[in-house]
Amino acid sequence: MPLAPAYDEPSSPPTHIAIIMDGNGRWATARGLPRFAGHQRGAEAVREVVEGCKHFGVRYLTLYAFSSENWKRPEAEVNDLMGLLRVYVKRELADLHKNDVRIRFIGKHDALPSDIQELIAGAEERTRDNTGLNLVIALNYGARNEIIDACRQLAEDVREGRLMPNEITEQTFASRLYTNGIPNPDLLIRTSGEQRLSNFLLWQSAYCELSFVDTLWPDFTQEHLAKAIADYQKRERRYGATSA
Ligand code: FPP
Repeated sequence: MPLAPAYDEPSSPPTHIAIIMDGNGRWATARGLPRFAGHQRGAEAVREVVEGCKHFGVRYLTLYAFSSENWKRPEAEVNDLMGLLRVYVKRELADLHKNDVRIRFIGKHDALPSDIQELIAGAEERTRDNTGLNLVIALNYGARNEIIDACRQLAEDVREGRLMPNEITEQTFASRLYTNGIPNPDLLIRTSGEQRLSNFLLWQSAYCELSFVDTLWPDFTQEHLAKAIADYQKRERRYGATSA
């Protein structure tokens, strides 16, 4: 019998939650505020959800902070988002470290401003030995790019004779993804009522449970998180097998 992928049994809390934090702009517009105000409140919701994950025993939290497609937004908004990220990392790092959080970033980082690249590297280095919650921030991330990068690495390995074509397996492929070493997400939440994956963790979410909630991201609280986890725990995960 083929081995089931290493996911959780349904009754335990998800090991890994991934979130598409959507609705910041609409939250701000509904209040007559600039979009930046929505992103600012969104960063507050991040703090709340990080604490919630620690509380509920979630081991990995991956947040979609900036997609490879988000560069298409007006330059001012891109700058605002980068600025917010700088502030978040600088302001929260000491606290995250004190709380034993390990922080990692996934995405194509060479296109980011150099000070952000340094900030990311410093945050990862400072928290690398922490054993509490793993906070993964997807920054300039796109799943199709990630998959193409992995294919290029495998092709290079085959060309250099380090790997035989028949050694390309789900495991060797996954080990070339940005998420190498991080378990697949068990639960993916998207806020704001939209029901799309938007190029987020396409390989990794093959058997992930999906939760689409109407709440706009800045309004997302630990109560919403608790409900999404409780709903997840009621689901039966079959990985293509029949029900028990
Ligand atoms: C989507 O809402 C949200 C984003 C593209 C950015 C998410 C960023 C944050 C929550 C703040 C910083 C993040 C961290 C990790 C500190 P949208 O702008 O597309 O909203 P809309 O669909 O209502 O316009």
